[in-house]
Amino acid sequence: MSRVTRTIDWDTDAVVIIDQTALPGAFRTLRLDTVDELIDAIRRLAVRGAPALGAAGALGVALAARKHGTASPEALATVRAEADRLARARPTAVNLRHGVERALAFVEHGPDAVLAEALAMLDEDERVNRAASRHAADLLLSRCPDRPLRVLTHCNTGRLATVAWGTALGTIRHLHAEGRIDVVLADETRPLLQGSRLTAWELADAGIPYRVLPDSAAASAMARGMVDCVVVGADRVAANGDTANKIGTYGLAVAAARHDLPFVVVATESTVDRKLPDGSGIVVEERAGEEITHVAGVAVAPEGTPVFNPAFDVTPVELLTAVVTEHGVLAEGRPRKPALGR
Ligand code: MRU
Repeated sequence: MSRVTRTIDWDTDAVVIIDQTALPGAFRTLRLDTVDELIDAIRRLAVRGAPALGAAGALGVALAARKHGTASPEALATVRAEADRLARARPTAVNLRHGVERALAFVEHGPDAVLAEALAMLDEDERVNRAASRHAADLLLSRCPDRPLRVLTHCNTGRLATVAWGTALGTIRHLHAEGRIDVVLADETRPLLQGSRLTAWELADAGIPYRVLPDSAAASAMARGMVDCVVVGADRVAANGDTANKIGTYGLAVAAARHDLPFVVVATESTVDRKLPDGSGIVVEERAGEEITHVAGVAVAPEGTPVFNPAFDVTPVELLTAVVTEHGVLAEGRPRKPALGR
């Protein structure tokens, strides 16, 4: 493991990120000196995951405030325009806009105040992630007999998706520390492979036993009795608990309900969008067709193939066992079962 401990941080006038497009082949960092560079990194998923995007939003406003200053109405207008472009870089994870707005609230106090607020947000991240994932671990432990669990997860929700620690993967870390993980089944997470590239890298680094499976094998693994519970993160949670997360989450929740398996969403309060009464108002990002028609630059579909490539889906709360944040259970969906069965 590199000595770099934070996925995203500030270092003398620049934002520094772990370049998630290079993993697992190479561990490298990128220095981003401008809001445009940061927006590009967000769109390419060099920095990704809802809490990490929140930090990116706040640090991006700090970049803009330091570059343009905040002393004149013109400078303030420029900073606000850059902040707005940044907030729109990806539409689904509400953390990005939350992070931008939180830092922007300090803009009239000057660039140092903006940066101080952004850094305070980074410091908070690990604490709230640990608290949310502790609640989720306790929920699972309260419902499981005393034996190590086989936990299925989707996408990457670990330190790489946050500033540090993680949400669903943070839950797995807590359980592992208590000797309660048998194996983690990590969906590869098509098409950009956050599961096999990033989650597997984190699990190997942490010494947690895991297997990677194709997304299409998850329901079959449940049917074969290989899964005790499912734990995922979230990109936006509506007030009623409906949850947007990486594409494929909805299908997993349908399958988990069919097999009566607990399905827990772990998120921080900054991922909850209380302005939305339910998930129907969540904007789902659609990404470029090349992510489907090409693998590592090689065409795997006929030229010109039309594509449907949503980056996320929305799972209704009634398919979820619970949505958990740092404050505890935010919403409960499916009725609880007394114990997990093998
Ligand atoms: O497109 P990505 O990789 O940014 O999607 C990330 C996810 O869907 C994660 O599950 C979510 O952000 C939770 S991260 C703690």
